[in-house]
Amino acid sequence: MKILVLNGPNLNLLGEREPEIYGYTTLKDIENEILEYSKAFEGVEIDFFQSNHEGEIVDKIQAAKGVYDGIVINPAAYTHTSVAIADAIKAVNLPAVEIHLSNINSREDFRKKSITASSCIGQISGFGKNSYLAGLYCLIKYLEK
Ligand code: DQA
Repeated sequence: MKILVLNGPNLNLLGEREPEIYGYTTLKDIENEILEYSKAFEGVEIDFFQSNHEGEIVDKIQAAKGVYDGIVINPAAYTHTSVAIADAIKAVNLPAVEIHLSNINSREDFRKKSITASSCIGQISGFGKNSYLAGLYCLIKYLEK
């Protein structure tokens, strides 16, 4: 089972970016933790991709078809704006789990609306780096069915 963990804009700055909201853990730390966690599941392979550019994220989702079985995605700010990413997830017909470090429902009004979530099988929000682990767990269980 191959899973792509995809991160959107500004998540490369985790650790230094608004630490009171996103914590002090870097993206590399989170990726290492995901890799460590994934060892609990036999035959699960993980690749990572981060981009600050909407088109690159769309390209990566399109290229995922036939290569990956599913996607864990934190679209970051594109969550609230990107019809293109929502359409790309639908177009490739791969199960995707949307995750957020912060609880987007308890923040500014503009963060409460996710455009991308309706293309996903589910959304996990508010558990910090554990949102990624929970997203991975739920995706694996969904794929095992
Ligand atoms: C985020 C929430 C988004 O609203 C924000 O733009 C981000 C990060 C999160 O993981 O909590 O960049 O996706």
